[in-house]
Amino acid sequence: MMTVTAAQCPKAGRVSIIGAGNVGSTLGQRLVEKNLADVVLLDIQSGRPKGLALDLMEARGVERHDRTIIGTDDYGDTQNSDLIVIAAGIARKPGMSRDDLLKINAEIVAKVAKQAIAQSPDALLLVVTNPLDVMTYLAWQASGLPPQRVMGMAGVLDAARFGTFIAMELNVSIMDVNAMVLGGHGDLMVPLPRYSTVSGIPITDLMDTGTIARLIERTRNGGAEIVSLMQAGSAYFAPASSACSMVESILYGRARILPAAVYLNGEYDLKDIFIGVPACLDREGVSRVLELDLLDDEYQALHASATSVRQSIETAQTLIG
Ligand code: NAI
Ligand code: 2OP
Repeated sequence: MMTVTAAQCPKAGRVSIIGAGNVGSTLGQRLVEKNLADVVLLDIQSGRPKGLALDLMEARGVERHDRTIIGTDDYGDTQNSDLIVIAAGIARKPGMSRDDLLKINAEIVAKVAKQAIAQSPDALLLVVTNPLDVMTYLAWQASGLPPQRVMGMAGVLDAARFGTFIAMELNVSIMDVNAMVLGGHGDLMVPLPRYSTVSGIPITDLMDTGTIARLIERTRNGGAEIVSLMQAGSAYFAPASSACSMVESILYGRARILPAAVYLNGEYDLKDIFIGVPACLDREGVSRVLELDLLDDEYQALHASATSVRQSIETAQTLIG
């Protein structure tokens, strides 16, 4: 019988996921079962990541891959990671204001970013915790990393939702749909119909304005629509898939152009902010930011979204002192 030794397997990258909740654990599953990386799942609830990791290791007997996944509450186990994903946080509970949530998640994200990067100073950082654009900024500040090595996941998810609604409306394969969404991950996000295509054809040539407006509204409301159906918790399958595609592009140097919350230093006339725009993601992190030629209303919408993100960054900074 032919045996494949560990030495013959391509070297896996090491991804540590901080926060082994719904998004973190599903991302861990995607990464190992797609054979993309070895994974460390870390959470403050120490038993949960250990149990999830053991369950996923046992699934290897069926899924047949050689990636490993461990669960821990000890940052020492995350040492020498190539990439750190932050999906730790709490959800808003009854009686809790937006500012309460902002403060708690800001403190969590700043703390875990520091602890994780102390163990893996050469790693890249991918933030998932909400409010996404604000948390990405705070994680960047706390980590001390160059901004090109830090990014946030939201645009891939928002574009995936927009693309899904486009494919459903036109009754065409999702394989041929490419959607683009700019801006912060919130009510002011900016889906761009002119840059959203089916086999290269802008959807503005395929649908009337009323239909496009309806799909944009559903995209903006995408997270809330799922929350209201689930009653407890929020979306995690599509978010985990979205983060997984970013991790793959980075670890394997695929240089995909994906909408991501990246640091802007004058692009789109915006400075010192993380917000969603198309960027090239490769082994170094954000190797290029692509500047689209925006119409006046698109430009104004992006700036309105940026103003809202900036205000929340300032509030968070005041709250955590
Ligand atoms: P969840 O509640 O299932 O998981 C959060 C996990 O974080 C829990 O296991 C909790 O124990 C852990 N945690 C809390 N404090 C921690 C700390 N100090 N250190 C380590 N772990 C800690 O939540 P879920 O659904 O996994 O979502 C995670 C975050 O991602 C939320 O903030 C959510 O809003 C956000 N999210 C963002 C998306 C995006 O597009 N950017 C999409 C979906 C979710
Ligand atoms: C979403 O859009 C909760 O941000 C999360 O589903």
